[in-house]
Amino acid sequence: MAAEGQKDAKDVSFSFEGPFGKFDRGQLQRGYKVYKEVCANCHSMRLLSFRNLSEPGGPEFTEEQVKALAATFTVKDGPGEDGEMFDRPGVPADRFPSQFANEQAARASNGGAYPPDLSLITKSRAGWYGTFNQLVNGIGGPEYVYSVLTGYEDPPAELAAGAPEGKAYNPYFASGHWIGMPLAGTLADGSVKYDDKPDEYSATVDEMSKDVSAFLAWAAEPKMEERKRLGFSSLIYLAILALLLYFTKQKLWARVEH
Ligand code: HEC
Repeated sequence: MAAEGQKDAKDVSFSFEGPFGKFDRGQLQRGYKVYKEVCANCHSMRLLSFRNLSEPGGPEFTEEQVKALAATFTVKDGPGEDGEMFDRPGVPADRFPSQFANEQAARASNGGAYPPDLSLITKSRAGWYGTFNQLVNGIGGPEYVYSVLTGYEDPPAELAAGAPEGKAYNPYFASGHWIGMPLAGTLADGSVKYDDKPDEYSATVDEMSKDVSAFLAWAAEPKMEERKRLGFSSLIYLAILALLLYFTKQKLWARVEH
């Protein structure tokens, strides 16, 4: 349910909107880097495998790149011959692992708040509400993520006194205005170095938030481009079929007296 008083998400114009929209590969690659270097410290993404990162329609890293980046994650495997679980570097077939052994451990490191798995976050949260609004503008999942990341504000005077311990004010957050995700420790200007930009370039929080939101939109629907392509070809097919049926009907009924 929409939390009472949750602010509508900020509208961002993403390349993948609309019936012909496509992901921007560069943006997905940068978004991956933001996820890996920042978000992965707290959030898992257990429905996504590393190998998905080289599949068509996504960030399209090369297979070599995917091997290398999978190896930077530590995956729990086993039990080995001694009956114990062991750690090993990730391989492309692995899912993105969680930083924490279980939910309790995740809560314990986050002041009691649980950092949800991000695999489907852009599908499971809406940026705005209203059936017609969502039909026209989409549900605004990626915009929701972007707005939460850039939505930390000073609380209004009447709420400031009742600020819960260890929480920050964020009117875009879906579960109340107080969020257990710290602003410090997540994103700050320049916190992620972009490989496709010159050395002295410092990425802003705004850019990084957009890029990681786009990356999470892809993660939640890796086959979006294929779906749109198929949808479009089916429309053309149906249009041609309709024309043929029309002419057939004209011909069949041509000699019927009125
Ligand atoms: C230091 C740990 C930490 C880091 C780093 C972090 N988060 Fe979070 N995040 C949390 C916690 C904890 C919550 C749950 C907050 C709550 O329930 O009050 C959360 C909540 C969220 C939510 C809201 C989820 C919801 O239920 O609607 C989103 C979206 C989110 N994080 C995205 C991100 C993204 C994207 C990044 C990387 C840029 C990131 N987070 C980095 C700890 C973190």
